[in-house]
Amino acid sequence: MRIILLGAAGSGKGTQGQLIERHYGFPRISTGDLLRLEVQKGTELGKMVEEIMKAGQLVADELVLEVVKARLQAQDCRSGYVLDGYPRTLNQALLLEQLDRSRPETVLEIQISEEAVLKRLAGRRVCAQCGAVYNNEPGTELQCQACGGKLIIRSDDRPEVIRERFRIYRETVGPLLAHYSRKQVLFPVDGDRTVEEVFEAIKLILDSRISGHQEN
Ligand code: AP5
Repeated sequence: MRIILLGAAGSGKGTQGQLIERHYGFPRISTGDLLRLEVQKGTELGKMVEEIMKAGQLVADELVLEVVKARLQAQDCRSGYVLDGYPRTLNQALLLEQLDRSRPETVLEIQISEEAVLKRLAGRRVCAQCGAVYNNEPGTELQCQACGGKLIIRSDDRPEVIRERFRIYRETVGPLLAHYSRKQVLFPVDGDRTVEEVFEAIKLILDSRISGHQEN
């Protein structure tokens, strides 16, 4: 099974992706995390994408494909995976289908308003070491509970950049939604609820999709 998480910046793709990984055992692949790692390591690719990411713009399809292709070849992706933030354009969706053809798909679009996103991302802190995400919970402001790393604010979590990321999502997602809707694999999820409520809704969809495919 290939699970694809669509949703604007801050809709909860990373949070729900981690829960899906833990519950179903499919590895979560976040193109944002993979690209940030390239930036952190100072690779050629990292240097090419750093400023684009800081401005909240989309990285070119062929550059993102490079990191996705490498990651999908890993052994742990053989029985399935969760894609967080990929594809973001119709062209990326078509490239993905060429790369890994015959896999059943479930596409979850986590829907949320711009106001809710601005509020959420204002409180987001991420671990500089392991990438764990926090929402400025009391007692977690300074150190990551998982690895002790320093918690920082992401460079693209400034209000003007958040608005730009939200605008780009709205502008680019239409053809992608139409594509998955035609394939009858698209499931909207109301993301403006607690993390647990959103995950319960996702589980209902995934359980029925997974058991449906096992029966076939
Ligand atoms: P990426 O890292 O994917 O960023 P994004 O899509 O903007 O999404 P975020 O990571 O900001 O949010 P999220 O939806 O994962 O929410 P989260 O769970 O963290 O991409 C970054 C950049 O990389 C892009 O702008 C682009 O430049 C480049 N890029 C990546 N993929 C690309 C691609 N395919 N093509 C081209 N360029 C690409 O939650 C947010 C906050 O809310 C957290 O603090 C969390 O704790 C909290 N929260 C989550 N759920 C809830 C809830 N239900 N209630 C309350 N709080 C919640």
